[in-house]
Amino acid sequence: MIEVQGVRMEFPAQGRHTPVVALAGVDLRVEEGEFVCLVGPSGCGKSTLLHLVAGFESPTSGHILVGGSEVCAPGSDRAVVFQQSALYPWLNVRENIGFGLRIHGIRGAEFDRRVEQYLGIMGLTGFDRHAPYHLSGGMRQRVAIARALITEPETVLMDEPFGALDAQTRNDMQRFLLRLWKMLRPTVLFVTHDVEEAILLGDRVVIMTARPGRIALDLRVPFARPREWDLVLSPEFVEVKRQLLGVLQPQLESAQSVEAFLAERSQEDAGEE
Ligand SMILES: Nc1ncnc2c1ncn2[C@@H]1O[C@H](COP(=O)(O)OP(=O)(O)O)[C@@H](O)[C@H]1O
Ligand SMILES: [Mg+2]
Repeated sequence: MIEVQGVRMEFPAQGRHTPVVALAGVDLRVEEGEFVCLVGPSGCGKSTLLHLVAGFESPTSGHILVGGSEVCAPGSDRAVVFQQSALYPWLNVRENIGFGLRIHGIRGAEFDRRVEQYLGIMGLTGFDRHAPYHLSGGMRQRVAIARALITEPETVLMDEPFGALDAQTRNDMQRFLLRLWKMLRPTVLFVTHDVEEAILLGDRVVIMTARPGRIALDLRVPFARPREWDLVLSPEFVEVKRQLLGVLQPQLESAQSVEAFLAERSQEDAGEE
C-alpha cells in the first residue's frame, strides 16, 4: 500500500541555517492493512517521512507510492493524526467527528448512525454535545482519531498521537485505536518514541537512524493479537524490547552527542561566512 523508494529529503538553507538533509536513502514498504510503527531519535526525519507520504511535501529525490500511484498531493484516501490535533473549536464533538461525513454528503439518519457508532467505539457516548474546550486532552485526541477514521480512509498516518498523554490515558487510547483498526483494517504508519508502544501496536517496528534518517532495523513483532497489557512483563517481550533498544540506543546517543551538536554548529557558522 505504501512504498517509499530511495527517498532523500533535503531542506534548503534558510537564513543563518545551512541546508538540512532530513532523510537519505529511505526504503520502506507497508502492506495493505498492515500496522507499522516507526521509532527513531528526535529530529531524524520521522515527521518528514510522514508528511511526504501524506503529500504535504515532495521528496528531493526518490519515489513515494500509495496504492501503486505516485503521491503528488494530499488525498482523502490518507488521513493524518498529529500529536495535538486541532479540533474545530466552534463545532461540538458530534459535528467534529462527523465533519468528513458532511463533506461526503452524508446526512440524516445515516450521519447519526455512523457518529453514534464512533462515539461508542471511542468511549465518548454522552459527550456528543460538548464543545472541544470542555474535553480532556485524551478525549480531544479520541475525537480527532474518530474524525480521521470515520470516512474509512485506506491509509492512516499518525505522528506521535499519544505523545502528549499520561501513561494511563495512553493505554486506553491504544485500546481504542486497535479496536478501530480491527474493524476497518486501514494501512497504518504510526510514529512513536516509545518502544513498548511500538511493540504493543505494530505488526512491524521500524527503527530509524539519527539524521539523516534511514532505516536501521525492520522487525516483525512475534506476538499474536489481541495483546494484553501484561505482555510487557513476559520474558519474550523484554527480549524483543532489548533487541530494538540495542539498535535504537546508539542512535539516540549519536543524535544527542555534544560532538554532533558542535559539528553542526561549526558547519552552520562556516556557511554564514
Ligand atoms: N520545513 C522544514 N524546513 C527546514 N528544516 C526542516 C523542516 N522540517 C523539518 N526540518 C528539519 O528536518 C529534520 C527532521 O525533522 P523531523 O522530520 O521533524 O524529525 P522528527 O519528527 O524525527 O523529530 C530536523 O533537523 C528538522 O529541523
Ligand atoms: Mg516529529
